[in-house]
Amino acid sequence: MNSCLFEPVNIGRLRLINRFVRSATHDYLADDQQGYVGPAQLELYRKLAEGEIGLIITGHAYVHPSGKASPRQIAVDDDRKIPGLARLAEAVHQTGSGSRVFLQIAHAGRQTRPALCRQQPVAPSAVYDPVSRVLPRELTVEEIHQVIYWFVKAAQRARQAGFDGVQLHAGHGYLLSSFISPHTNRRTDDWGGNWENRSRIIREIISGIGQSCGPDFPVIIKMNATDHLPDGLTLEEAMKIALSLEQAGLQAIEISGGMNEAGLGSVWPGLRAEEQEGYFVPLAASIKKVLKIPVMGLGGIRTYRVAEKLVSSGQVDLISMSRPFINHPELIKDFRSGRLEKSPCLSCNQCFNPRGIRCQPKKT
Ligand SMILES: Cc1cc2nc3c(=O)[nH]c(=O)nc-3n(C[C@H](O)[C@H](O)[C@H](O)COP(=O)(O)O)c2cc1C
Repeated sequence: MNSCLFEPVNIGRLRLINRFVRSATHDYLADDQQGYVGPAQLELYRKLAEGEIGLIITGHAYVHPSGKASPRQIAVDDDRKIPGLARLAEAVHQTGSGSRVFLQIAHAGRQTRPALCRQQPVAPSAVYDPVSRVLPRELTVEEIHQVIYWFVKAAQRARQAGFDGVQLHAGHGYLLSSFISPHTNRRTDDWGGNWENRSRIIREIISGIGQSCGPDFPVIIKMNATDHLPDGLTLEEAMKIALSLEQAGLQAIEISGGMNEAGLGSVWPGLRAEEQEGYFVPLAASIKKVLKIPVMGLGGIRTYRVAEKLVSSGQVDLISMSRPFINHPELIKDFRSGRLEKSPCLSCNQCFNPRGIRCQPKKT
């Protein structure tokens, strides 16, 4: 297929075979108690890789049990998780399709429940979350250093397990996202206040991973550029933060938005028209103007020609999708062989299934 979408691109020194990314997707298929990789996940990732997706990003893996967000979520919180994670990375690489796989590493912050994380949830500041109905505990400075350590250790484990890189989850109101948001970060010390202080924790994590994993192990980020809250993160600040992260060694960025309490989250339902596709791309395109690293466009992209236009016009470098691959993991292979029909994904969000993600649209 002769198209910009099938031109290789580099993330740092890592070559991707095409411009398609499977955006991080929690699959509810891990062991619930400890977050060990489950057999159904190996099958899922093998299918995604056979579908020739350039970069596959796993569902969010918690770096510490206090950051568990959801039932049956994968974990990277201790060394005993490495063999299972290694089987997952191997399931992708063994297909020989050329797909690469990154582990998304995350901490839920205040967007969890004590029953899941087995303690009072933590956050930069004690700001009540009306959705989880949690009043989190403010992290001490010593604990912030511990969080940085957990993320760096998680990246080391991912590298040991054979992943090609890691993605930091700094979107959707989870812990790193709640640090950069002025709505949830009300601190007055070095970790709060202006955008430089609010994003310090992420720069520390990036440089910690760089020092311990080396330049051949890319660190990328999924980051909010809006929280959809009146006192939340602004695009102007997100641009400054993104540039500072690039200077700290970040190697690609995926732009998202929303927070649980905003009502408007990151997974918008009911998309039908082509004009609705790429709902976070305008934010990504603005951020791309100030960066040199590759930028991923996200949000409801379903149509080949829309994807091609977004890349050929220079708005973004990569096309990131989640729900279309739940519906059809071989979508990109189809595109490559000239079958260019729009993804049949209806964005109905019935794929969120605590017994394991699946495409099961509601009958109307
Ligand atoms: C079932 C499901 C699980 C998701 N899990 C994650 C996740 O673990 N981490 C994350 O950053 N985003 C997660 N997302 C959000 C997607 O990565 C993506 O940002 C969003 O669905 C918009 O893209 P789409 O319209 O192509 O689905 C999830 C989405 C779905 C539908």
